[in-house]
Amino acid sequence: MYLRPAAAAAAALLGATVLVAPAPSAQARAQDVACPSGPLVFAHRGASAYAPENTLAAVDVADHLGFEWVENDVQRTRDGRLVVIHDDNLRRTTNAEEVFPGRAPWNVRDFTAAEIARLDAGSWFDRKFAGTRVPTLEEYVGRLSRNQQKLLLEIKKPELYPGIERDTLRVLGQAGWLDAAHVNERLVVQSFGVDSVRAVHRQRPDLTTGVLGTPSAGDVAAYAEFTDRINPSHTTITSDYVAAVHALKGAHGKPLEVNTWTVDDAAGAVRARNLGVDGIITNTPDVVGEAVCEG
Ligand code: G3P
Ligand code: CA
Repeated sequence: MYLRPAAAAAAALLGATVLVAPAPSAQARAQDVACPSGPLVFAHRGASAYAPENTLAAVDVADHLGFEWVENDVQRTRDGRLVVIHDDNLRRTTNAEEVFPGRAPWNVRDFTAAEIARLDAGSWFDRKFAGTRVPTLEEYVGRLSRNQQKLLLEIKKPELYPGIERDTLRVLGQAGWLDAAHVNERLVVQSFGVDSVRAVHRQRPDLTTGVLGTPSAGDVAAYAEFTDRINPSHTTITSDYVAAVHALKGAHGKPLEVNTWTVDDAAGAVRARNLGVDGIITNTPDVVGEAVCEG
């Protein structure tokens, strides 16, 4: 089940006053609560259709909409801190060019955490989010803990950050995110970097991991030794592909799962559900949540 009844009820009671984004309709919430089956819904970069991606505001909107699982992207600063941001440079989602005009090409890895903390990561999306910051991973998981949410953590471009897997696990461990409760139910680590996923599995074999992309059947069989999920773009999959992945057992002895991305409309959500996927990663969790119950 992808939506927490308690959160949905709270959101319904509190109404739009607690939201920084349009609230789902009361009808949608009722359908979500009544829909215990269907694919799990992940709020991609938080509920990023309604708040600036990969920020605490996007986490909070996902929470207010009633969604537990959020996806994010993790990269590393010049001084070795982990920050939550999608692009490997700061241009698109912050005002780095304005604050640091002489620092082209504004790569994340060329800035310290203190420098990145000065940036506005909200105004590009909507001026009402002015002053929103790029969160560190510590801040990010702290907010998830406060909201009792769960994390699909993507190690982004691991080839740029040698050893980022160990750094990520260290931060997660220090934040209390590697205890049995989190490892069993609240945390999945994924990457397009197959070696990165393999490294995470070697260092923490108990963690659930996912490989992003649409590997061939032969590669999937090899990946099953160190991963539990194959997470492809929705544009690349068929029901046969999903069934072929499901036919293999993953690193923890269960059938490999398929979580597909990024599906933002009702028709796409119904199609993905009908292909048999286990999860849908979406910028619009409210739309997808309603569609997979209804369609
Ligand atoms: O979680 C899947 C998705 O996030 C992968 O693509 O580019 O949005 O990180 P991207
Ligand atoms: Ca991502």
